[in-house]
Amino acid sequence: MSTEINWFPGHMRKAMSEITDRLKWVDIVIETCDARIPFSSRNPELHKQIKDKNRIIVLNKADLADPQMTSVWLSHYESQGIAAMAVDANNKGDIQRLKKKMETICKPILDKAASRGRIGRPVRAMVVGIPNSGKSTIINALCNRKVVVTGNRPGVTRAFQWAKSSDSLELMDMPGVLWPNLGSKHNKLVLALSGAIKTEVTDMIYVASEGMKWISTLYPDYIKTRYQVPGVVDPDDINEAYDRYLLAARIKGCILSGGRIDEDRFAALFLDDFRSGRIGRITLEEPK
Ligand code: G4P
Repeated sequence: MSTEINWFPGHMRKAMSEITDRLKWVDIVIETCDARIPFSSRNPELHKQIKDKNRIIVLNKADLADPQMTSVWLSHYESQGIAAMAVDANNKGDIQRLKKKMETICKPILDKAASRGRIGRPVRAMVVGIPNSGKSTIINALCNRKVVVTGNRPGVTRAFQWAKSSDSLELMDMPGVLWPNLGSKHNKLVLALSGAIKTEVTDMIYVASEGMKWISTLYPDYIKTRYQVPGVVDPDDINEAYDRYLLAARIKGCILSGGRIDEDRFAALFLDDFRSGRIGRITLEEPK
């Protein structure tokens, strides 16, 4: 079982330099993160590029994250003076709040433009973030129509385009970008678990079994309830966690002819359960 996850295709390097080039055209950057992994889903390279711009951190997929932990994260950003909000991109109210917040942050820029005779100029925003964090969904929701393709495939967001949300807001969609060194083993694991890294370049069984182990330490009751296996395991005992993973697979009927456990099938089932929130509302990281 391979534990290595490497993912930095050439198009991501190109996208990063495009983001840098185009920053000068926008008033504000919307940095979409995954509310379940607020730390690992923030691209540190992006963070360096946009630190001098107006920006909002959007903790997207908040409907899938632990609400208490989302509040902890929002307080953390507030204490650092960083504008942030939790969003479910499929919730119209959340999208309206996001629009309002962007307009409020950019008001001084628009007032300045108006004082120079450029009255009614729209706010221009760039939407950036790692693959699968919900950039396309947010842009479509802000525009109230399908202007970019969404899909649970990392790297789906592609070429540059402006999208008109209203007379007062225009959006620039950028491709999702990861970074060459994805950080610690933990960062890579949770990125793969969330779907930011393509399943094809990971060892699905490793991601699912380690993911199950990690979720058990944080939310033992969720695992116990969903898979009818003991919730608490010794985090240092590799065999115990793996045995429990196999037991859960058996209980869920993932069995090959001859009685062997179908580990691939259970891995796919488990990842789908996690990504769609069926295990529960889960946040895998807390502020450091
Ligand atoms: P990206 O552009 O950043 O790559 O992400 P994209 O908008 O394509 O979203 C990736 C997947 O996440 C999509 O699911 C999308 O519907 C889902 N998603 C985005 N925002 C939210 C959110 O706030 N909450 C929840 N629960 N899901 C969200 P998909 O199943 O791959 O595509 P689709 O069948 O919905 O089109």
